Amino acid sequence: MFNIALPKGRLADKVCKLLTAIGFDTSEVTDDNRKLVFVDDKNGVSYFLVKPSDVAIYVERGAADIGVVGKDILLEYKPDVYELLDLNIGKCRVAVAAKNNFRENKERPLRVATKFVHIASEYYSSLNREIEIIKLNGSIELAPILNLSDVIVDLVETGTTLKENNMSVICEILPISARLIANKSSYKFKAEKIDALVSRLAEVIK
Ligand code: PRP
Repeated sequence: MFNIALPKGRLADKVCKLLTAIGFDTSEVTDDNRKLVFVDDKNGVSYFLVKPSDVAIYVERGAADIGVVGKDILLEYKPDVYELLDLNIGKCRVAVAAKNNFRENKERPLRVATKFVHIASEYYSSLNREIEIIKLNGSIELAPILNLSDVIVDLVETGTTLKENNMSVICEILPISARLIANKSSYKFKAEKIDALVSRLAEVIK
């Protein structure tokens, strides 16, 4: 069996479409029930649906041979995996955002709410700007609204969440898209199978 870790949530359907396009059977893969492992006997593949931020851990440790993960996760956690292909889906950016009427006070450290502690720290240190990180795990946009932070560093896709909360992007830090990653020893021992999969995927995303 060949194990593939897939991200739950908004990327799942798009990844399944890509896998279907190269002949894999992902018809059973759905978030709608509590099932966690889906087997495609015909292709000798089994899929796991996990939290997007956990995909890289499964792949790094070899519980999955390959996986699909956002570039944001790769940049934040720097897992020891091979990044094989930009899948051209899940396109968004990591950006700094704040309330529409925000004025920065440069006399004190900037309070930054984010789940991307490393990306945010690296960005502000490149600007020589002193910050205080407030690590959150979701609904980051709430932080400036409740004055928990001055700004946020978060993913922006359509911009709807910011708009609906009277916030806007101050600066875009990184462009993001979903990447195919592989466990290093799986790639060594199953190189032919993985390379074939990469070529077929590269064809359909052209
Ligand atoms: C992500 C991100 C933003 C939102 C951006 O959150 O953290 O909140 O999507 O998307 P938009 O620009 O299309 O509105 P997600 O929905 O993954 O959940 P979270 O808030 O729990 O992190």
